[in-house]
Amino acid sequence: NERTFLAIKPDGVQRHLIGEIIRHFEKKGFKLVGMKLMQASEDLLKEHYIALCDRPFYSHLVEYMRSGPIAAMVWQGLDVVKMARTMIGETNPADSRPGTIRGDFCIEVSKNVIHGSDSIESARREISLWFHTDKLTCWAESTEHWIYE
Ligand code: GTP
Ligand code: MG
Repeated sequence: NERTFLAIKPDGVQRHLIGEIIRHFEKKGFKLVGMKLMQASEDLLKEHYIALCDRPFYSHLVEYMRSGPIAAMVWQGLDVVKMARTMIGETNPADSRPGTIRGDFCIEVSKNVIHGSDSIESARREISLWFHTDKLTCWAESTEHWIYE
């Protein structure tokens, strides 16, 4: 079963969007299998965004992500990596459609509320970076038969 790493960024936590964002993925039918509120270290964030280390905004990005607690989560479900990205919207909220998380809840690219893994390989890497994978919770949802054929 496919898994993705989602993180509500410090602006999303400060703006009290945790409940609403979690609700979005719950209503969709995805299953929450891991969750923690944490202040991420500089090392973790640099590693998390290592692919962007050459970008001019890299250090600003790491400081933004260090500016407060993050709600780190692992979600599971069919095609969850791609579908979560669709639900999140584009990197720049200005390009994100209404109905997406970034389209509805934020304005600037440097304060875009949520992170989502961009591929199955990234999801694997990010989940093992942020979580002890053996501590993720495997549970049977009573509604599964009403969501999947
Ligand atoms: P994540 O889910 O956070 O990984 O975003 P993304 O996959 O939609 O975009 P990407 O991985 O390319 O960039 C990571 C994050 O860097 C973005 O979510 C933004 O917060 C930030 N970022 C991207 N482009 C810019 C930029 O041009 N300026 C600034 N200040 N931040 C940017
Ligand atoms: Mg990304």
